[in-house]
Amino acid sequence: MSLPRLAILISGRGSNMEAIVGAARDGALRGRCTICGVIANRADAPGLSRARALGVASRVVPSEELGTRAYGRRLLTALAEWAPDYVVLAGFMRIVSSEFVAAYLGRIVNIHPADTAAYQGPDGYGWAAEQRLTETFITVHLVDEGVDTGPVLRQVPVSLVGAATKEEIARRGLAVEHAVYSECLAELLDGRYEAQVARVAGRRRRG
Ligand code: GRF
Repeated sequence: MSLPRLAILISGRGSNMEAIVGAARDGALRGRCTICGVIANRADAPGLSRARALGVASRVVPSEELGTRAYGRRLLTALAEWAPDYVVLAGFMRIVSSEFVAAYLGRIVNIHPADTAAYQGPDGYGWAAEQRLTETFITVHLVDEGVDTGPVLRQVPVSLVGAATKEEIARRGLAVEHAVYSECLAELLDGRYEAQVARVAGRRRRG
């Protein structure tokens, strides 16, 4: 039996990508999936050299100067070569197009460093610092056509008591992200989130 194939999309550091690759080799995802490759939308993403060091196939699919729709098409073409079953966004800083969401309906996952109901956007740890939160939530969710609006799979609290800087907030949050993302992907692959998957499909039909 062949294992489900995961492609990971990044834009930057790639620490979640690294944690997922590690989990597929020797952790929560072991024996549950294959990581077919890593795509970065920018050639200068530090995560690319991390992927190379890990021996994972990687490529740049540049997004510069392309709108959401055109970039979605470019991504679909690039991904077709790897034929992934799931697309895992790990610090991927582009909005995916509705055509892209439809192509991988209920099979695109994202991790957000905040409660998606309270904050949508690119800087969840900066937001937590500004708001002086004493607790924040790491959220793993399915991707629908909105920005950080898809059905939540898991939400995990992180205490920010005594965390005086954005750096300390990010340090605490990322430690949780690295464990939770792989655990949650394992649950998704085990079919534990059928209701959320159905909701993504249902929302699209209504729209
Ligand atoms: C993480 O905080 C993730 O939640 C957010 O972007 C950041 C990516 O970090 N979506 P890294 O590239 O995985 O290190």
